[in-house]
Amino acid sequence: MTRIAQIIVAAGKGARLGSTIPKQYLKLAGKLLIEHTISAMNSTDLIDETIIVVAKKDKIISDIISRYKNIRIVIGGDTRAKSSLAGLLSLSNKPPDIVLIHDAARPFVSKSTVVDIISNLKENTAVAPALPVVNALKTIDGIKIDRKSLFRIQTPQGFNYKEITQAYNNLSQNITPDDDIEVAKLSGINICYSEGDPNNFKVTYPKDFERAKKMISLNNYIATGNGFDVHRLATGDKVWLCGVPIKCEFSLLGHSDADVALHALTDAILGTIALGDIGDHFPPTDPQWMNAKSEKFLLFALSELKKRGGVLQHLDVTIICENPKIKPYRQSMRDKLSQICNLPIKKISVKATTTEKLGFTGRSEGIAAQATATVKLPE
Ligand code: CTP
Ligand code: MG
Repeated sequence: MTRIAQIIVAAGKGARLGSTIPKQYLKLAGKLLIEHTISAMNSTDLIDETIIVVAKKDKIISDIISRYKNIRIVIGGDTRAKSSLAGLLSLSNKPPDIVLIHDAARPFVSKSTVVDIISNLKENTAVAPALPVVNALKTIDGIKIDRKSLFRIQTPQGFNYKEITQAYNNLSQNITPDDDIEVAKLSGINICYSEGDPNNFKVTYPKDFERAKKMISLNNYIATGNGFDVHRLATGDKVWLCGVPIKCEFSLLGHSDADVALHALTDAILGTIALGDIGDHFPPTDPQWMNAKSEKFLLFALSELKKRGGVLQHLDVTIICENPKIKPYRQSMRDKLSQICNLPIKKISVKATTTEKLGFTGRSEGIAAQATATVKLPE
């Protein structure tokens, strides 16, 4: 059986992108860019071992790799070539037959790119995905360059492990290669190209990161969640509805501020991410939620949504009661929800209805609310 290892080089600083943290640790649809890359590179089931080459070991990368099997972290160097070599040397105890080396900054590598490289390695020692140049090429003086013999080279690049390690050992100190296929070529290895993929671009400049965000969002799906809640009427002088206090001749009975509308909304949002219901997270038996502001529950659901890369699209809440009359407060309720949820007011609907004096709401024994939340989530 051919043993296949892969090295994902992620020890760069991402200077051209110019963010405060290296680009491979930027969030893209709820996950770090490097997590997308690791998942994409593991889409084939053909890889036996993965090495992630990083500048330093920290909790972020340890947490990520704890989710995968047969994966290790290795410390890289101050050039890409040194990082590749560190990865190669870390495999020397139990050398694989072939090794793929991939930029962490290319999260959109496809399964077929990986499969192609591996199958090309049956008859070749060094393979890189290449794309033809489609635009006309000119020198700064306007002289035409024949583009037929030019290619744009991508990663992953695949090699016979022994040969590429030897090639790195042969590499002269004063050469800074762009990539691993260059090292192979310099060492006299025959190289071959497989078909590149325009989507497998390297996140290099801020515009690439914007493109990556757009590409990820093509995989989004829409989820709707609904929530329903009821609170009994009690003596008092105000009720809270959608985070707005309303003076009246009664109050709502509840452990928290009993804001039945915010509870329904919280459940609706939890529903979009299948995270149980409000009672699972804020049990009424827990004294810490006594008189709590229900805004807190809603903010919790929103932060869980955000953690999963979700983006709130729309909220619709219906309050069911005879009294108080909701219409005079509708605008301030929408304003309040807009502020809590950081969502434009046009995406927030607050409605009310009576039940024609029928049932518990009709007899003014309680107030009910139902809500629908619509969100976008990454696959
Ligand atoms: N890389 C590495 N070690 C280095 C330099 C780069 O492992 N010393 C990795 C990067 O993390 C990246 C890949 O090599 O995944 C391709 O390099 P590049 O796009 O140049 O990334 P950076 O060097 O991080 O970016 P910049 O050149 O803009 O600083
Ligand atoms: Mg670089």
